[in-house]
Amino acid sequence: MSAFDPAIFSLNSRFDVDHLMIGGVSAVDLAAEFGTPLYVVDEADFLLRATAWKSALEGAFGTQAGTVYYAAKSFIAKEIARWVDRAEIGLDVCTGGELAVAESVGFSPDRIEVHGNNKSEDEIRHAISIGVRSIVMDSFNEIERVARIASELGKVQRVLIRVTPGVEAHTHEFIATAHEDVKFGFSLASGTAWDAIYAIENQPSLQLVGLHSHIGSQIFNSEGFAAAAKKLIGLLSRFRDSYGRELSELDLGGGYGIAYLPGETTLDPIQVLNELAAVVKSECESVGIALPIISIEPGRAIVGPSTTTLYTVGTTKEVELDGGLTRRYVAVDGGMSDNIRPALYGAEYWAIIANRLPLGPLCNTRIVGKHCETGDIVIRDIDISADTQSGDLLAIPATGAYGRSMASNYNHVPRPAVVAVIDGKARLIVRRETIADLLALDL
Ligand code: LLP
Repeated sequence: MSAFDPAIFSLNSRFDVDHLMIGGVSAVDLAAEFGTPLYVVDEADFLLRATAWKSALEGAFGTQAGTVYYAAKSFIAKEIARWVDRAEIGLDVCTGGELAVAESVGFSPDRIEVHGNNKSEDEIRHAISIGVRSIVMDSFNEIERVARIASELGKVQRVLIRVTPGVEAHTHEFIATAHEDVKFGFSLASGTAWDAIYAIENQPSLQLVGLHSHIGSQIFNSEGFAAAAKKLIGLLSRFRDSYGRELSELDLGGGYGIAYLPGETTLDPIQVLNELAAVVKSECESVGIALPIISIEPGRAIVGPSTTTLYTVGTTKEVELDGGLTRRYVAVDGGMSDNIRPALYGAEYWAIIANRLPLGPLCNTRIVGKHCETGDIVIRDIDISADTQSGDLLAIPATGAYGRSMASNYNHVPRPAVVAVIDGKARLIVRRETIADLLALDL
């Protein structure tokens, strides 16, 4: 039943008599003023989650709490970078483009960690020259490259090693794997992570401060993180035995799961980090090393739940299926260009009618986009009011992470605007692209 469920909408959303309100602003007014499709970000929700992760990390690890690096890949814009700054957390960037957004608002480089499996020479040079806090090493080529560039710039760069710990995370579960067939990082099992330590230790322009791992996304319990942490701590202990000193930092990446559908629950930062801290502390004790400084990189868990996408319904259609059944298709004015996740991962979303009370009986419906592609599905199967019709406004919650950030111009559809709402006020933070913007690139 497609009703408003507060658990999957941003914290300051509610259904007010006959329409959706977000951050004190009516969805109907938002659509009228800014058009659709529209990403609506609940600013207070974002700030609250960013702060909640910071205080949960501090609560769990005390003096050894490192930095919460917000993963810019989940969604970054100038205003988002300002909010990250306001929450006094750090930023994880994985391209020069993401770094440029941070720089454009004066975000302090010394709260920026740089990722990426194929950082260009220019990206590396720029990151080192502005003084980013750390660079996470992903390959032997890169160790040499970063060392050479740092040395040319007369700097010593703090680095971490991205370790593939052989813990493969899937949605709702994790499995331990012996082989790590992924493009990221250095494998623990094959010994390349150990060799990377040696390679870095031989470079005077690199200062190895610790290890990093990121086991996957949309993870719903602490066990996968804890399993990875234990493996990394094993490597820290081996390092201490061979090199006679301890590495001081462990970055355990992002991947904390959020609710997209009614009945799902967003992971509680306090619970997951306390559980993780218990394992990390006892593991460090048992191998006899000091508790390292622990950092994390949540993206989705901070921005995902903050955002609702508003679409306008255009056409509807009944399609006859085998066996005399029919399926109702409801097409909206966006689709896979503003949210590729259903097409790419089979990700599931929820929708409600945002501009009025639903009147009709429920009807099994497929919500689709406007793109010339059969797989352009927003929601494959949803029981939504049978009277959903042209002109209705649909609201899809939890679209903040990897929606706008993975948006495309497929079919030359301009990318939607992003509006921030707070205390009854709305303001544009990313303007809608225009056809003129798209044409401006063509020579
Ligand atoms: N740190 C590293 C090194 C990462 O690779 C990622 C995500 C994160 C942090 C943030 O993960 P999060 O907390 O947001 O789950 N496009 C996919 C997700 C890809 C995530 C890639 N790395 C999706 O839409 O589900």
